[in-house]
Amino acid sequence: MYDYDVLFIGAGPGGYVGAIRTAQLGLKTACADGRETLGGTCLNVGCIPSKALLHGSEKFEEAADGSLARYGVKLGKVELDLSALQADKADAVKGLTGGIEFLFKKNKVEWLKDYATFKDAHTVEVAGKMVTAKNVVIATGSSVTPLPGVEVDNDKGIIVDSTGALALAQVPQHLVVIGGGVIGLELGSVWRRLGAKVTVVEYLDALLPGMDGEVRKEAAKIFKKQGMELRLSTKVTKAAVKGKKATLTLEPAAGGAAETLEADCVLVAIGRRPNVDGLGLAAIGLELNARGQIETDHDFRTKVDGVWAIGDVIPGPMLAHKAEDEGIAVAENIAGLTGIVNHDVIPGVVYTAPEFAGVGLTEEAAKERGEIKVGKFSMLANSRAKTNHEPDGFVKVIADAKTDRVLGVWAIASVAGTMIAEAALAMEFGATSEDIAYTCHAHPTHSEAIKEAAMAVTGKPIHI
Ligand code: FAD
Ligand code: NAI
Repeated sequence: MYDYDVLFIGAGPGGYVGAIRTAQLGLKTACADGRETLGGTCLNVGCIPSKALLHGSEKFEEAADGSLARYGVKLGKVELDLSALQADKADAVKGLTGGIEFLFKKNKVEWLKDYATFKDAHTVEVAGKMVTAKNVVIATGSSVTPLPGVEVDNDKGIIVDSTGALALAQVPQHLVVIGGGVIGLELGSVWRRLGAKVTVVEYLDALLPGMDGEVRKEAAKIFKKQGMELRLSTKVTKAAVKGKKATLTLEPAAGGAAETLEADCVLVAIGRRPNVDGLGLAAIGLELNARGQIETDHDFRTKVDGVWAIGDVIPGPMLAHKAEDEGIAVAENIAGLTGIVNHDVIPGVVYTAPEFAGVGLTEEAAKERGEIKVGKFSMLANSRAKTNHEPDGFVKVIADAKTDRVLGVWAIASVAGTMIAEAALAMEFGATSEDIAYTCHAHPTHSEAIKEAAMAVTGKPIHI
């Protein structure tokens, strides 16, 4: 009766993972995406290229700032070959997007190479053809939120969004980042390490919204120490481009006298919004919420029968692993199994140096819900971090005062992104801080700081 059992619209981490899963479960599956390569924002212009530049720029900084000398590594003049770094990034993207194409073939997922528009709940138009499916999953992701008065032109390379900032052909002298969130700090770090002066203009009075308050305060100290200039509680109201320079108008967020700031590159990173333009949602009577997102129930069903939605286009953190898990869950629900995502336990990581990571409630949010106990352990007292000359950071474990159940874990450490997986697993299993404290952790590892912070919840850390 239908061409496919399931059609995914969008081949990002939500859509491609979901499509592979439905195919594995024996359903005839197609996935529509008009990009030249599969993998969506994450693989093409997000997670992967940004991590390639973060890794490469960290290597460059290590070589250039003389910090390898203490290990007896003697270097001559260190120079940057930006095109080689960009080629390494392109290689990572090519390998991984090509890998998804291979997985589609292996699992018999058909890639429909264009953008899709709904005609009715079971029919979409793709590349001028009508395609029908019993179930349609919207996984169209998100795009950069525009800032009125500051027009992005990635081709000129003066006012850019994250996609433009990943592709700069030369290191800017002065990069101004609008938005002290994840993108601003990751890409700001890349270009600072490669030699740019970086100024971050943030509307709020702290960086990294959504993270634990103490982590946000520490982030400001660390990025300042690294040489970033931070302009908190400040907004950009206008940008004018003349020749190869941009002049920004800045004002205190609370109102007050305006000032100007010159830059040869401006990165607009003030958040992302769901991709729904051109989807034809009116044709199926699907309305958006006040934030422009598609609402679903716990099983990822929209209000329209047979139409489901996952990933950045629905509420929740805009993260690749959240989209992937929703892709698997929606596939299992469509196949008649029980697919569940625990939205209370989704880790978040900022891949700077050090990394900032967290899972569960912030201390502020946990306090609002009831009485808590907090244990903290400094990375200065962790033997591995000390040996590696990585003094910045701490781990913080937040537990319910009565039950001792872990409510949230926050970490600033060179490998916090890897460490936080343990905390997520513990929370998924409903662990208490005592469970973590009595779990044997290998020595010497950064992860011992999680054990010590858990011990500190009841006041019993060993190494402080
Ligand atoms: P997307 O990956 O956005 O994919 C949606 C796809 O749908 C796109 O390919 C788009 O072309 C396609 N599409 C849109 N409309 C249509 C249509 N009508 N028909 C067909 N196809 C359509 N997250 C992390 O977890 N870790 C990170 O390190 C990280 N780094 C990031 C760095 C940057 C610079 C950016 C911008 C984002 C980063 N993210 C990161 C966020 C992550 O990329 C997203 O959360 C994730 O890609 C969302 O997956 P998705 O499947 O919902 O959508
Ligand atoms: P964000 O929401 O993390 O940060 C945007 C920042 O801009 C906020 O601090 C906000 O207060 C500020 N802002 C808003 N308007 C402003 C204005 N007019 N002037 C100055 N500041 C202003 O959004 P960002 O960094 O754009 O990232 C978008 C999404 O991509 C995030 O939701 C994130 O989850 C995802 N992402 C995840 C990464 C990761 O997991 N490592 C890496 C990069 C992106």
